[in-house]
Amino acid sequence: MSTFWSWYITALTIGTLLALFWLIFATRKSETHKGETDTTMGHSFDGIEEYDNPLPKWWFMLFIATLLFAIVYLALYPGLGNWKGMLPGYENGWTQVAQWQREEAKAEELYGPIFAKYAAMPLEEVAKDEQALKMGGRLFATYCSICHGSDAKGAVGFPNLTDQHWRWGGEAQTIKTSILHGRNGMMPAWGQILGDDGVKQVAAHVRHNLAGLSLPSDSQVDLEQGAQLFNSNCVACHGTTGTGNPMLGAPDLTHSAGWIYGSSLTQLQQTIRYGRNGQMPAQEQYLGNDKVHLLAAYVLSLSQK
Ligand code: HEC
Ligand code: HEC
Repeated sequence: MSTFWSWYITALTIGTLLALFWLIFATRKSETHKGETDTTMGHSFDGIEEYDNPLPKWWFMLFIATLLFAIVYLALYPGLGNWKGMLPGYENGWTQVAQWQREEAKAEELYGPIFAKYAAMPLEEVAKDEQALKMGGRLFATYCSICHGSDAKGAVGFPNLTDQHWRWGGEAQTIKTSILHGRNGMMPAWGQILGDDGVKQVAAHVRHNLAGLSLPSDSQVDLEQGAQLFNSNCVACHGTTGTGNPMLGAPDLTHSAGWIYGSSLTQLQQTIRYGRNGQMPAQEQYLGNDKVHLLAAYVLSLSQK
């Protein structure tokens, strides 16, 4: 915190405390109104009147006690800008950050060797180890389930990791690379280039000719034209047969079970018109190689079941 903000906060805090002291004494009535209990404030709410009685003494003292507590607290602990408090050991002692770091170090000491043991084994073997899979499952629940779901079956925009449909590849090492370095699937937007009719035609081609799904019976779309548009615009990434290209994360368009953005004509048109940009965040710097190794083995085991 810069010196200015430090002083700003300090002044604000102490000023407020002083104001509160002033307020509690300035509005204190017990001395001047001793014994008087029948004066009213002059308000009347539906006939209910407010008496002008002093605060009960215990209540008044409670206010004073909280104010004194605040002073003692602010002297002992950090609270006033850059003031670190009079208690020793702020830097590496009782702060939450230090506590968390200590616990992390302890956990590292305890589990580090176990993680390291598995990290030295081939993924295929780790994927068969009961204890490793339990640990991998717990890591998955903590770090991956928010996007891929607690059952790893994915959601709209997030791939299912338990099936045989892979965008980037399902080999052990490829899965590990996906997790370590992240992935970014870039499907360009075609709305401007193909126009509205073109988008509809190519969407119908993908849905009907490639994925073998039905079209509405009253569909007037020119599938021939759709196929042509696909051949001239899409095959570079999705392949001549539409089966995709794992190097680019371009999904297989012949199996709608592996799609993550939906297979209805509307959803397909949306995808083609505006493009998609799926992002799998890289985990290497957060989790490190050893944990990612366990996670990769766990994910591998899911699709082998
Ligand atoms: C530059 C390469 C590239 C080109 C060209 C391309 N795509 Fe894609 N496409 C991708 C990638 C990569 C993804 C995955 C996007 C993601 O994961 O967010 C994708 C995703 C899709 C999806 C969504 C599948 C799902 O999982 O729901 C459809 C549908 C699709 N593309 C159709 C097309 C069509 C039709 C064309 C031609 C008009 C086309 N793509 C051209 C790279 C491309
Ligand atoms: C912020 C959301 C998010 C989190 C968290 C996340 N993922 Fe992903 N993951 C994605 C998205 C989105 C994709 C698809 C990327 C694309 O469009 O190609 C993906 C793709 C993958 C793939 C590649 C799938 C394929 O078909 O090739 C694997 C493997 C994977 N994630 C594993 C994990 C693991 C393990 C974790 C936990 C460490 C994790 N993910 C955490 C969003 C997430």
